[in-house]
Amino acid sequence: MLCFGHRGAKGHAPENTIRSIIKGLELGVDWIEIDVFYIDGHLVVFHDETLERTTNGRGFLRDKTFSFLRSLDAGEGERIPTLQEVLDAIAGRAGLNIEIKGDNAASAVVNLIQDRARSGWGIDSFLVSSFNQREIARVRQLDQRVRIGVLLDGFPNCYPAIVDTVSAYSVHQNIEHIDELFIADAHALGLKVFAYTANHPQEIRRMSTLGVDGVFSDYPERVLSIRNSL
Ligand code: G3P
Ligand code: MG
Repeated sequence: MLCFGHRGAKGHAPENTIRSIIKGLELGVDWIEIDVFYIDGHLVVFHDETLERTTNGRGFLRDKTFSFLRSLDAGEGERIPTLQEVLDAIAGRAGLNIEIKGDNAASAVVNLIQDRARSGWGIDSFLVSSFNQREIARVRQLDQRVRIGVLLDGFPNCYPAIVDTVSAYSVHQNIEHIDELFIADAHALGLKVFAYTANHPQEIRRMSTLGVDGVFSDYPERVLSIRNSL
């Protein structure tokens, strides 16, 4: 069962910051998951559409300039990182799941992945996922090789169709909607099943017993300790 550090290691450091990513790496994650928006011509690593919850700024992310966003405190003095800075921090020590938020990020994300793939990163060390079906369809149009994860929170009717359209590698489902049947169906479609977000040891154990292929956790060390105890 693979361990994805959720927003880095959200349980230990301000989410989606370099500090959080470094913490995830120190804890020994297999993959780092981060959220990315395309704002003012830059890929910024951020989860919410608004600034209040995680920074000292106010208002909508999409209305701001890149330089304003960079001036904010994203927690403990950290600033909002770019995707490029995240890649530099990981430096090949873990895989990177880039979750696209918002619109218009696909092309810049694919460009960056292709650029890193040319300079030695394995293309398989990237996994692009999104709830936004247009964005992952665009990723697939732009590059046939990049692994794509379909993000779900329930069972939309279009799930098998989108899996087919993007030739998905994986399905990322909320733990509340994961049971034996969901996993069997996904595996029959040839998909890996990655479950978000399992923080309580009981939830992590349940996911492990059900046979998911990976879990996202704010506390990656719990996943690793349960995995090591099996
Ligand atoms: O990618 C898994 C999980 O992060 C999806 O939900 O809202 O935490 O980005 P969210
Ligand atoms: Mg996410």
